[in-house]
Amino acid sequence: MTIFPERVFSGIQPTGHLHLGNYLGAIVKFVALQETHECLFCVVDLHAITVAQDPVELRKAIRRIAAAYIASGVDPVKNIIFSQSQVGEHAELAWVFNCVARLGWLNRMTQFKEKAGKDRENVSVGLFAYPDLMAADILLYRATHVPVGEDQKQHIELARDIAHKFNNDFAASIVANGHDGPFFPLPEPLIQGPAARVMSLRDGAKKMSKSDPSDFSRINLSDDAEAIAQKVRKAKTDAEPLPCEIAGLAGRPEAENLVGIYAALVDGSREDVLLEFGGAQFSAFKNALVEVAVAKLGSVGGEMRRLENDPAYIDNILREGAQRARNLARPVMDQVKDILGLIR
Ligand code: TRP
Repeated sequence: MTIFPERVFSGIQPTGHLHLGNYLGAIVKFVALQETHECLFCVVDLHAITVAQDPVELRKAIRRIAAAYIASGVDPVKNIIFSQSQVGEHAELAWVFNCVARLGWLNRMTQFKEKAGKDRENVSVGLFAYPDLMAADILLYRATHVPVGEDQKQHIELARDIAHKFNNDFAASIVANGHDGPFFPLPEPLIQGPAARVMSLRDGAKKMSKSDPSDFSRINLSDDAEAIAQKVRKAKTDAEPLPCEIAGLAGRPEAENLVGIYAALVDGSREDVLLEFGGAQFSAFKNALVEVAVAKLGSVGGEMRRLENDPAYIDNILREGAQRARNLARPVMDQVKDILGLIR
């Protein structure tokens, strides 16, 4: 039986600006995982071009994600930080997976349905095949664990289905090529965490999103202390003081969201937050929240701005990361070609 060593892969799309939801939902988890796992953190630029992008903005956005990783404490020496398009094997394996995945599987993807909306005939073929490329990202490194937000769970399940079908369809060839078990692992999503879902500051029922027209709905990673303070103070709440127990957050989405954000920022539990602030008015709690948010995000934003002013440094990290990623990817891709019966 093949034993797959634990390996983490995740990626963020270089579109728009990063906000607190991306930070707490993804990057903070990456910072923790680097202590226990071999990790690859990718800037998934090929996913970004499934919809229209301005070339000048795209290049900046790619560097900005890399800067966000580094500014948040993801170590580019210990981990591999790179951009997807700089390792051609991602697109190469994605084509193979286009031929493994079934049309019916992709037709069920809820994110595609949401993004395509009524304009289905007019979206790019790439947007439809997006999950096959995502499966290739993960399986190219035979990654076993994928930290993602709740909304990506269905895509990880599709990656598992693709891995499973490939292992089955080519079982005989996999053995004939010297492997003694399945070729690809079935990757698992890592979704937990106190802030798996960070909601809008204006509406506790909506996800914090870069496409929300109101900038007061989100805290951007690039916001300075003053902007952070203003947004937290204006955040929607209800009239009651904070409850002393988790059960008291039921039916109070705004309170729940702010408590979750506080817990995630101090790396504690929501229980602890309520132990400290249960019975307090929102005005007092918000002051404390401003303090922890500014302490944590102020320095990340400042460091990001510093790094963005040094594109040569970022480009160098991406180039070295791509080289290291390619060293892992090429042998896997070569084995895939052997298994498929292609000549290399
Ligand atoms: N689709 C993911 C998102 O929008 C980004 C992504 C692309 C990704 N490839 C990946 C995440 C591989 C994890 C692993 O959030």
